[in-house]
Amino acid sequence: KIPLLIDTDPGVDDALALLMAFNDRNHDIVGLTVAAGNVGLQHTVRNALKLCEVAGRGDVPVFAGASAPLLHPSPDAGYVHGRDGFGDVGYEAARRHAEAEHAALAILRLSREHAGRLLLVALGPLTNLALALKLDPTLPQRIGRLVVMGGAVSAHGNITPTAEFNVYFDPEAAHIVFEAFPRFDLVDWEAVLVHGLLHREVDGWLSADSPRARFYDQISRQTRAWSAERRGERWHSADALAMAQALHPEGAVQVLERPVAVELDGRLTRGTTVVDWLAHTGQPDNAAILMAYDEKRFQALIREALAAR
Ligand code: BDR
Ligand code: CA
Repeated sequence: KIPLLIDTDPGVDDALALLMAFNDRNHDIVGLTVAAGNVGLQHTVRNALKLCEVAGRGDVPVFAGASAPLLHPSPDAGYVHGRDGFGDVGYEAARRHAEAEHAALAILRLSREHAGRLLLVALGPLTNLALALKLDPTLPQRIGRLVVMGGAVSAHGNITPTAEFNVYFDPEAAHIVFEAFPRFDLVDWEAVLVHGLLHREVDGWLSADSPRARFYDQISRQTRAWSAERRGERWHSADALAMAQALHPEGAVQVLERPVAVELDGRLTRGTTVVDWLAHTGQPDNAAILMAYDEKRFQALIREALAAR
């Protein structure tokens, strides 16, 4: 089995991605490292622990990490995910607590224990990963594959006109990661936009008779309603698409390799991912950008993850 480490900020779509990972037979989840992002760290850690419990995966260690971006404070996305990040349904906290080890240190330790084999999937702001890189710049040499959910490759942002939330929340961290890794998979917001899920199909999957589907139905209700009002009949689950590409890259229909950098200074464009589509810079291609993924496979992965017991 391939060892899988997930860096996350749950978050309703993070939760769906985690359920997909819990349901996968070919990967062995060695930990969840958690950062602030969608909501504050106390909530994202509490949510990660709860989701493990609901899925019967109390064996997966949860490591708390960065409580804020590296340099500048950033507004969270509580208006999308609920003030607690899980739809404000008032769930009872899991009985377990996070591990004592900091997420950045856990990333480094697990990268040594699984050197060359680790699949690292980053579903939130890249603060934990950037901290780990600053502590040990040789980290990329020990990572088998890195998959990042972030950016908007043609600058159609979801948080500013040009920037996507995960990169915008901590642009310096994204810059550090994009510079340090010679190659990573990028699943950006614009790929997510063309892989929307029909609400009426999602509603059907959520009616499955399983504790996972029941819990997910509750915590996602608020954000699905928010999305239906603004974006119409399709729901966009960013982290779920990233997890599909991480677990089943054979489902990718089109991937383009290009140099990607992060704008740190722009008056209007801070946090924007800048893709050198036409090879102006001479920079090496660092990102394998997912353009299209098999819709049927994506939907089946979600449906099965929700129905699993
Ligand atoms: C990303 O931002 C967060 O709100 C989601 O969890 C996802 O990781 C989408 O831009
Ligand atoms: Ca996320």
